[in-house]
Amino acid sequence: MKILLIYFSGTGNTKRISDLYKASFEERGAEVDSIELPLTAPLPDIDGYDMIGLGYPIHGFNAPKIMLKLCKALPKRNKKTDGYKKAFIFKTSGEPVRMSDVSSLKMRKILKRRGYAVNNEYQYVMPYNIIFRHTDSQVYKMWTVAQKLVPADVNEILQGNAHLPKKLFMGGFFAWVLRCEHWGAHIIGKTYKAKKACVKCGKCVKLCPMGNIRTNKKGKIKFGGKCIICMRCVQSCPKAAINMGLLNSWKVNGAYSFDEPDKPSPPTKHDKYCKKAYDRYYRDAQARIDLFDKNSTNSENS
Ligand SMILES: Cc1cc2nc3c(=O)[nH]c(=O)nc-3n(C[C@H](O)[C@H](O)[C@H](O)COP(=O)(O)O)c2cc1C
Repeated sequence: MKILLIYFSGTGNTKRISDLYKASFEERGAEVDSIELPLTAPLPDIDGYDMIGLGYPIHGFNAPKIMLKLCKALPKRNKKTDGYKKAFIFKTSGEPVRMSDVSSLKMRKILKRRGYAVNNEYQYVMPYNIIFRHTDSQVYKMWTVAQKLVPADVNEILQGNAHLPKKLFMGGFFAWVLRCEHWGAHIIGKTYKAKKACVKCGKCVKLCPMGNIRTNKKGKIKFGGKCIICMRCVQSCPKAAINMGLLNSWKVNGAYSFDEPDKPSPPTKHDKYCKKAYDRYYRDAQARIDLFDKNSTNSENS
C-alpha cells in the first residue's frame, strides 16, 4: 500500500503527528511519502497512491486557508469511472472541545466534490501555540498519549473501519462564521511589529511559510498582508521580539520541550481551563489505546 501524507504545520505540532503517522504506517509495511505545505514542487501523481492523509492545526475551529487551497488544487477525479480515492484527516488542537469537530466540514465538502472519500478523521491535543502556554507536564502527557494513539488510529484506517466525528447542530454555520479568521489574519498580521529587542537575525523572514516577512532597506523587519497567524515567527524568535498587535496578550514565546520534565510542573491559573474536555479526551484516548493493545496481544497469541 502506498500512502501520501500532506500537512501544514505552523509550529511543529502537526509535523510531529504526521511523522508518527509515517512511522506507524511504515511499521505496518506501507510505503509513505510526506509533503509539508506550502508546496515547493508540483504535487506527485495522486493516482500512484492508494490513500492520502491530510493534516492541519485547527485555527479558529477551522482548517487553515492553505489547507483548503490544497484540497481545491487536488486533481479532480472522475467518480463514475475511477471511483473515490480514499482519504483521511488528522488534526491537532490546543483543546479537545467538541466544537473542533466542525473544523473539517468545509474541507470534506471540497474533497467529496473532487472525488476523495474521507472515512477517517482524528484529532490530537497538542500544546497551544497561541492563547496560553501549556506546562511541561501537560505537554509531556499530550505527546505520550499521541504516540500511543496514532498506531491505534493507523490500525483502524488499515482495517477499513470508518471513524468520523459526530455531526454538530448548526456546526457548518458556526464554522462558516468563524472562517472570518482567514481574512482577519491578513489584517491582524499586518499589525505585527519587531520590537527594539530584535537583533535582525532574519530567522522570521526565512521561516515564514507565506513569505510574508521581509527586511526593508533600513534593515527593519516588516510584516505584509499574507499572514495566516501560524505563529512560527513568534515561536522561533530568539529574542521574543515580535509584537503581535491586537493578539499580543495571546502570544506564546519559544518552542515547547516534549521531553519528560525532571519534576511535575507547578499548578497554573489555566489548570481548570476546559478541564472536562481534557479529561474526556484522555479517557477516550486510553480506551482506544487499551483496545488496540488487547487486540494486538490476542492476534499475536493466536
Ligand atoms: C490562529 C490560531 C487559531 C487557533 N485556534 C484553535 C482553535 O480554534 N481550537 C484549538 O483547540 N486550538 C486552536 N489553536 C491551537 C493550535 O491548533 C494548536 O496549538 C496546534 O497544535 C498547532 O499546530 P502546529 O504546531 O502544527 O501549527 C489555534 C492556533 C492558532 C495559531
